[in-house]
Amino acid sequence: MKQFLRVQDIGNLQDAIREALEVKQNRYNYQHLGKNKTLLMIFFNNSLRTRLSTQKAAMNLGMNVMVLDVNQGAWKLETERGVVMDGDKSEHLLEAIPVMGSFCDIIGVRSFAKYENKEDDYSEKILQQFIRYSGKPVFSMESATVHPLQAFADLITIEEHKRTERPKVVLTWAPHPKALPQAVPNSFAQWMNATDYDFVITHPKGYELAPQFARKALIEYNQNKALENADFVYAKNWAPYADPNYGKILCNDPSWTITEEKMALTNNGFFMHCLPVRRNVIVTDAVIESPNSLVIQEAANREISAQVVIKRLLESM
Ligand code: CP
Repeated sequence: MKQFLRVQDIGNLQDAIREALEVKQNRYNYQHLGKNKTLLMIFFNNSLRTRLSTQKAAMNLGMNVMVLDVNQGAWKLETERGVVMDGDKSEHLLEAIPVMGSFCDIIGVRSFAKYENKEDDYSEKILQQFIRYSGKPVFSMESATVHPLQAFADLITIEEHKRTERPKVVLTWAPHPKALPQAVPNSFAQWMNATDYDFVITHPKGYELAPQFARKALIEYNQNKALENADFVYAKNWAPYADPNYGKILCNDPSWTITEEKMALTNNGFFMHCLPVRRNVIVTDAVIESPNSLVIQEAANREISAQVVIKRLLESM
């Protein structure tokens, strides 16, 4: 594996899940792979889970880890070519990337959608420049359109808790005061579509995901109907993809919040969310604190998904 953005990059999903469960049992068995190798984690945006879990995964593999917060302590970076740099940005990404690449063996990048230009976001403009100019394997730690480490951790969590071979998994939009990125729901949909689960997406009209991510999922605009007999309920806010409302807030209807009444419609379903989550906006206290809430297990599996990905990148060197 040379890069990690899409579900296709991980290859056969059953093999990846088997490997994840094996790594989870024996997470320190591969320290030889990372000896004298360095992971550079670059954050253009904030993080708690990704930062800690990815660093832990690399340390489990015997790697050295460097973390750069681009907006705290580094020179402010220009990302557009052709700009006359007489403003507040002191360095261009086109020099910064190969310099960063010269100090490490693998690069993880977090760079969210800016919601200013859909084409820039959906071409993964920042991440693709790291792939092109760093000379090193690159993985997404949530980029403009995808969060594959999260989706892989979500899949591992579902596999660990599913009670039937083909569970019903429902991705539901939920309200939020800010326009959040589409990366988590995009990747969740992409990875669920790669399984043979019964996969349903529910959201208000206008919140359709990009067709390349929604693909064969059943779209149900009635949330209560979608939740009927669900085995897993994955809640997330995202902003609209379709023009002219790309990246705007269209709806903030509190009736989409996941409550005990909503969960009562499910097949004693599990509640999932990638975190961070706004309690009593996305989900009530009672649901997230219930025995069926998997949010902590999902977050813990971020270490495992990151370790499998970094392990495979190391093995491909
Ligand atoms: N779920 C997730 O990526 O969390 P952070 O934003 O805290 O890394």
